[in-house]
Amino acid sequence: MEIQKEKILEALKVIRYPATKESIVTMGMVRDVKHREGELWIALQFNKPNDPFIQSLKKACVRAVDGAFGENTLKLEHIQILLPEAPAKREVLPHVKNIVAIASGKGGVGKSTIAVNLAVSLARSGSRVGLIDADVYGPSVPKMFHIEGERPLARSEDGIEWIIPIEKYGVKLLSVGLFVNPEDAMIWRGPVATSALKQLISQGDWGTLDYLLIDLPPGTGDVHLTMVQEVPITGVVIVSTPQEVALADVIKGINMFTGDKINVPVLGIVENMSWFTPEELPDNRYYIFGKEGCKRLAEKMGIPLLGQIPIVQGIMESGDSGEPVALFPQKAPAKAFHNLAQAVEKALEKRNIELEPTTKVEITTR
Ligand SMILES: Nc1ncnc2c1ncn2[C@@H]1O[C@H](COP(=O)(O)OP(=O)(O)OP(=O)(O)O)[C@@H](O)[C@H]1O
Ligand SMILES: [Mg+2]
Repeated sequence: MEIQKEKILEALKVIRYPATKESIVTMGMVRDVKHREGELWIALQFNKPNDPFIQSLKKACVRAVDGAFGENTLKLEHIQILLPEAPAKREVLPHVKNIVAIASGKGGVGKSTIAVNLAVSLARSGSRVGLIDADVYGPSVPKMFHIEGERPLARSEDGIEWIIPIEKYGVKLLSVGLFVNPEDAMIWRGPVATSALKQLISQGDWGTLDYLLIDLPPGTGDVHLTMVQEVPITGVVIVSTPQEVALADVIKGINMFTGDKINVPVLGIVENMSWFTPEELPDNRYYIFGKEGCKRLAEKMGIPLLGQIPIVQGIMESGDSGEPVALFPQKAPAKAFHNLAQAVEKALEKRNIELEPTTKVEITTR
């Protein structure tokens, strides 16, 4: 059953703030209502941290929602209490709602493929999406979007030179690969590469975005540190293949983000190359890298498994031809990416309700 936001607000409207006897809805205390698959989150605004009615109003919300919809139809999963101190203003990319890094401790597991198709899927469902190719040594996004050789334009405003991202398939794109030949990028030394990347982030004319995805290079090196120090990453999506040897490196990757010094939330794991399906036998699955390795890893590490993407020849070919498979919704792999996009959106919503915004990481020792 589709429940509309208005219906939920209507149910909450009967609740009165005891001090004024006015409805919490008309007073504007209900700042946000989100629901998906029978789970509801709401955000309530209070004017002071020690408001005596916080607990009783939380209970009243649960009762009102249960009464209106029945616990089995809609369950009030979380109530966020908003307090008046203005949240710290984000100076970097202030108009970007969610900054999501796509990472893995290991090379060649499909980070770029996932980042590109995730970006296209999100854009197709109406979100404003940007993608930064942070793989400064081996950029692959230009090829995957078939924009090799294109040069982003620049514009000046208030003495700042803004780089205008290239827009393709509804996604705004910047990559070091658009400024130099990929072969030249290979020989860059750390500081040059990271300063080029910083420029793409801070001088990119990204405008307002719902999601800015960052396709990270393999490993846990300089570029990763630069990213967490330069931008407040909302969350990380970890990509792995299911076999044991990949998982060991992936654990290192996860620990880098969740360790004390960095502490960026991991949204979940995507299992890529989960099984092989031949085009002529679409119902057959061959678990050539083992079955459900990432599911076990996710359980062990207490993080969600966001999706499983099969090995399909078309995914590889679409990367090479510069037309991401997510552009073709009738094809099975596009559905897998669409489901993944939904899972990532949901994980972000949950993260944004439960945790404070990420701040840039200050790392003084290495
Ligand atoms: N699910 C899949 N089915 C078929 N081919 C895939 C799949 N995922 C990735 N590939 C192919 O595997 C190769 C490596 O993928 P990709 O470049 O996305 O990995 P990566 O993790 O970004 O690599 P790197 O660590 O070098 O950045 C590419 O040729 C890509 O087309
Ligand atoms: Mg890559």
